[in-house]
Amino acid sequence: MAEILREKNLFHLRNEHISYVLCEMPGGILAHLYAGPRLSAVNAANLLRHAGVATDHSFSVQECMLDRLPQEYPSYGLGDYREGAVTVAAPDGSRAVDLRLASTEVLEGKPALEGLPATRGGGCATLRLALRDGLTGLEAELCYTIFDDCDAVARSVRLVNGGSAALTVTRAFSLCLDLPDADWELITLSGSWARERDIVRRPLCPGVQGVFSRRGASSHQASPFMALVRPDAGEARGEVIGLSLIYSGSFAARADVSQFGTARLLMGIDDADFAWRLEPGEAFQAPEAVMVFSEEGLGGMSRQFHRLWNARLLPERWARRPRPVLLNSWEAAYFDFDADKLVSIAEAAAKAGVELFVMDDGWFGHRDDDTTSLGDWFTDRRKLPDGLKSLGDRVRALGLQFGIWMEPEMISPESELYRAHPDWCLHIPGREGITSRHQFVLDMGREDVQAYVCEAVTRTLRESGAAYLKWDMNRNITNIGSAALPPERQGEVLHRYILGLYAVMGRLTEAFPEVLFEGCAGGGGRFDAGILAYMPQFWCSDNTDALCRCRIQYATSLVFPPSTMGSHVSAVPNHQTGRVTPMESRFAVALGGCFGYELDPRQLTEADRAAMREQIAMANRTQALRLNGTFYRLLSPFEGNDTAWMTVSEDRTEALVTVVRALAQPNVMPPLVKLAGLDAGRRYRDVATGEIYGGDELMKVGLCCPLSQCDAASAMIELKAVDEA
Ligand code: GLA
Repeated sequence: MAEILREKNLFHLRNEHISYVLCEMPGGILAHLYAGPRLSAVNAANLLRHAGVATDHSFSVQECMLDRLPQEYPSYGLGDYREGAVTVAAPDGSRAVDLRLASTEVLEGKPALEGLPATRGGGCATLRLALRDGLTGLEAELCYTIFDDCDAVARSVRLVNGGSAALTVTRAFSLCLDLPDADWELITLSGSWARERDIVRRPLCPGVQGVFSRRGASSHQASPFMALVRPDAGEARGEVIGLSLIYSGSFAARADVSQFGTARLLMGIDDADFAWRLEPGEAFQAPEAVMVFSEEGLGGMSRQFHRLWNARLLPERWARRPRPVLLNSWEAAYFDFDADKLVSIAEAAAKAGVELFVMDDGWFGHRDDDTTSLGDWFTDRRKLPDGLKSLGDRVRALGLQFGIWMEPEMISPESELYRAHPDWCLHIPGREGITSRHQFVLDMGREDVQAYVCEAVTRTLRESGAAYLKWDMNRNITNIGSAALPPERQGEVLHRYILGLYAVMGRLTEAFPEVLFEGCAGGGGRFDAGILAYMPQFWCSDNTDALCRCRIQYATSLVFPPSTMGSHVSAVPNHQTGRVTPMESRFAVALGGCFGYELDPRQLTEADRAAMREQIAMANRTQALRLNGTFYRLLSPFEGNDTAWMTVSEDRTEALVTVVRALAQPNVMPPLVKLAGLDAGRRYRDVATGEIYGGDELMKVGLCCPLSQCDAASAMIELKAVDEA
């Protein structure tokens, strides 16, 4: 049970496993005392003494070195030389704020965030603290929610101008976490297009380190996530703190190690190109950040994130619902198709057991390649002479659902939309627009643009009767300027873009609750918790090579569960790497997420088409286990030649183990993989061979997984409990 204990000036948030403790110092400064495994009792003076801070009435901000005080929401410029969490320009141009506690409130449940996605309440308690800066009138409302069922604390910040003159917020981070030592290593996810989310681990060093995106999207290059791990912590043991920002735009995630060897973690909207004007009475809501605490290593951290997102973030109606096995036309046809070709691909797919056929890019305007037509969301009658409805009906007549691709946030300079509304794209008057993939970005902060996008998507879904929409976003943002905002509000453009995007996604997913939306951004370039609040799954990467996908999906699972990862079997040689891998291994890896195909089934051999039928049967048979079960990483492709992961059902009676060996080597032993999450006292049967193993044997000794002697060899083992515990 989550509870919030209040003892004099101390606030102790805790549940069965974790505690988060803060206190009000004399004078109202909010000090941070502790975050981590549950504590039974706390002596504030003890913890503050460590920071060299007196706690009696002799405490005064003037005398104490704020630079040493662990704080909840500090500002730079009044004695704390570390990175601050908030910066606000006052009417006189000065930029320091001094926030003191004004009032406190304990709420059952969790208030929603205005205009931003956040974890859902129920079974949780929230501490709401109102802070005030006497000089400017700035108010900061800090919310901390602790959950019954997850070892996580969700935080958010809302700034209100309670003064009488306009203020400009130039930094409003969502989270600050001061830790009493810096004996940690930092893990972040960094990458690029087709190489999303490499795991990077390094020791914390004095100074500032971290990751950020200034691309207007959370990006391929960095993820709004960081983890601190003790140097001896690994996958299965050790202390870990994981942080994730529920936001899809530019962000910063930093660790600042001080002269005293303490560490300050910060996370929020990137402030490099951010300035938000607050007129008197106006409010600014910063996104929610989530902190997860684990004593069971990175695996424990991930399972907390997975549970939190599955239960409290993904759209409720989709979170535990089976997802259809889909076949996407992109790698099958690219831009080169007409209705008959698509129907013939769909027909072959239907015969193999596919449930949903998705028509990707190229069906609208005059789009024969990527140089034109984004924004012109009307059917290209050259390719689809009888229109979308007719194509949808033909696909449905095959017993399939029909799905469609759109890239709603974009506009091609070569489009009717651009000719009609050149001011609808982000641009700076007098400066040449920078295209990327030959396209500009719509100004999603504008209400007329939002209305246009909603109308275009609504019309497309209605006309086609689509049961699925792939929502793509294929470039990062430049020329950051909006024709709809005055000069003093141009620093708001990037965040207003994201607010507009969320508003549109919210409206559309509400209006079409039965449509399955899948996010995409040139592959996994905006795979973040913000989008997942609207769309339960995201295309992990444009890279469909099985070996590359081992890395990408393994690393993605640090934060996100298999139920969110779009992953498909594609043709060989692979279109991104040229590599040829066995069909069974492409299948084994794709089964690690929301399963589908990215190929032309007509081009497969008869044997592969037969394999497809068996694969789809297995995908469906194991779907509930794979998407709702508990996920364990077993062998890391970042540390060796083998990758292994497994999913265990909630009642621990079923498990599916996947093993992939990247390069074949002569004269080596087959992998002996130590499993996890099973019931040690039960016996398990290998469904394929009928062999019986002890649960403890599988976890302590391991399961021997013989592999074919070839590159990218794989094994999948389905286990079922055979006796009572
Ligand atoms: C992006 C997506 C691909 C495909 C193309 C279409 O790259 O990630 O899956 O939809 O756009 O242009």
